[in-house]
Amino acid sequence: MKRTIFIFLFLFIGLGTSIYLYLNQRIVPIEQVFPSKIWAKPIENLPNLKGVGAPTAKNCGGCHTEIYEEWKRSTHANALSDIQFQSELAKPSSPKWICLNCHIPVQNQRETIITGLQNGDYLRPVEIPNPNFNIEMQAEGVTCATCHVRVDSNFKESFVIGGTGGTTPPHPVKIDRKQLLNRCYDCHNETYSLNESLICSFQTGTELIATKSNESCSSCHQPEVRRSFVKPSLNKPIRTSHKHGFIGGGVPKTFDLYQDQIRLGYKPGIVLSDLKVENNRIEVLLRNSNASHHVTTGDPERFYRLILVGIDPLGKIIYKEETTIGQEWVWSPAAKKVSDNRIPYGKSFEWKIELPNLPIETFQFQAVHVRLKNNTSDFMIQSSGYVPSKYKANVDKIKDLYPHSSLVIETKYQLKTKSRKDTPLEELFKRNVNRKGE
Ligand code: HEC
Ligand code: HEC
Ligand code: HEC
Ligand code: HEC
Ligand code: HEC
Repeated sequence: MKRTIFIFLFLFIGLGTSIYLYLNQRIVPIEQVFPSKIWAKPIENLPNLKGVGAPTAKNCGGCHTEIYEEWKRSTHANALSDIQFQSELAKPSSPKWICLNCHIPVQNQRETIITGLQNGDYLRPVEIPNPNFNIEMQAEGVTCATCHVRVDSNFKESFVIGGTGGTTPPHPVKIDRKQLLNRCYDCHNETYSLNESLICSFQTGTELIATKSNESCSSCHQPEVRRSFVKPSLNKPIRTSHKHGFIGGGVPKTFDLYQDQIRLGYKPGIVLSDLKVENNRIEVLLRNSNASHHVTTGDPERFYRLILVGIDPLGKIIYKEETTIGQEWVWSPAAKKVSDNRIPYGKSFEWKIELPNLPIETFQFQAVHVRLKNNTSDFMIQSSGYVPSKYKANVDKIKDLYPHSSLVIETKYQLKTKSRKDTPLEELFKRNVNRKGE
């Protein structure tokens, strides 16, 4: 009797262990774990493009010289080298392959191909070496091919997606302007919770659609310019082209990129539409006139800091008030949005302040777009031990190397004359080069 129980128990444990082992070793296809999620897979390996060679941005830049120079200065081109990205990517909890699917989105940019997930667990990808890995293309972040190059499924040949047509390019082209314009949504409009504290919350596309405007993301982020699509020596006609700097909130990834922000199309989304002082009360009115989505949008850490100071006749600051426009989240134990006072398109934000009785002669108002908080970069330095050696030194020097914020509106208001003088944007961006921190 005792023996039979033991045998049964033994069989039971054995069977249980094998089922457990089987399930745990089972390789589940990515599409099964993340059905119809574009970011769950990179764009398939792209064979060499006829007339071009490897579909790297550098090769495209051989003919599309100006577009290449603009794109080189964009946040897209910096999407892998970004100090903040490298620091967050290195966290042991980050599902690196998923992050890379949006930050280096073409399979040629990846050392390995992911064939599935062990037991469907996104932290256990099964990887094999990628024979088409191109290390030069890896460094290019959101490279040209992300939006422009695909493989023809019949001929297994790469082709370029264009929006215009004509004038005999040396490479195969298919015209599909709509597909090109809608591509932004794949990465900039995703809301998904991987687990309680790791969520993605980009609703820029949804915000744009809600305004019912006819604009696309490119209408503003790729301003039109009349020029040849290619270098002058190819003798092609002047046409309507689009700047490729993809300028957003005006906080670039390195200090030397400040000088290109305005040239490539930066303007603040919010406009200081009114500032008035009456009976010990000051009213600041800001309107989102320039961005057909919320300001701030995209990364939930971004916010605007509004600063009002009162200056006495001797030039001394004797009064200061601050407030913020943005979202506030707590990330642990579970991610949760706590507050949100961002400005939707066409709407205004009113800041009313009761003033104390002080001998103020001039008020100065400033709006600062913050991309990274000081205490977040402090934390990055503390945990830089995880960061690969190639990027670690940069993370340790993040305070000096990485713009955290930009001053984008400044005005001075003279109480006696009730006159307002705005500082030109060009001057603010010269000063931004020397600002540090949030
Ligand atoms: C669905 C596509 C997508 C995925 C997946 C994704 N990102 Fe991003 N990431 C973006 C976009 C779009 C932006 C730009 C948002 C902005 O500038 O406001 C961005 C910006 C960032 C930034 C810069 C934030 C800033 O304000 O400058 C960091 C850091 C970052 N991502 C880290 C990660 C990490 C780590 C992961 C993986 C856990 C990840 N991303 C996964 C699309 C993605
Ligand atoms: C050897 C020169 C050369 C190289 C290299 C090259 N192109 Fe072109 N491309 C051209 C020419 C010429 C045109 C047509 C120019 C015109 O229409 O005025 C063109 C047109 C285009 C167009 C516009 C198509 C349209 O009608 O809307 C796109 C988009 C494009 N190329 C993308 C790329 C990308 C992406 C790469 C790199 C993978 C690349 N090109 C590499 C020469 C080149
Ligand atoms: C494959 C994913 C992907 C696609 C497609 C994509 N982006 Fe991005 N975009 C990103 C990532 C990732 C970042 C941020 C990189 C970082 O901060 O390190 C970004 C940053 C930006 C920024 C910069 C924000 C700032 O303040 O610096 C703008 C603007 C932008 N994208 C516009 C566009 C537009 C317009 C399109 C479509 C034509 C587009 N993006 C398509 C992934 C993508
Ligand atoms: C994030 C997506 C994205 C990336 C990355 C990107 N482009 Fe474009 N590109 C577009 C869109 C969208 C258009 C079409 C805009 C339109 O027709 O309204 C375009 C248009 C073009 C055109 C046609 C001429 C023009 O200016 O309209 C050329 C040529 C071109 N891109 C080349 C490149 C090259 C070369 C790179 C890399 C150095 C690159 N693009 C990177 C989205 C992108
Ligand atoms: C009517 C013009 C307009 C359109 C259309 C538009 N944007 Fe913007 N966008 C702006 C302006 C202006 C800013 C700068 C906001 C600021 O920081 O004051 C901006 C900022 C951004 C930023 C940086 C985050 C921030 O809040 O500064 C990202 C990312 C972005 N836009 C992506 C997109 C995407 C994706 C689309 C399409 C779904 C889009 N934008 C459509 C004008 C526009």
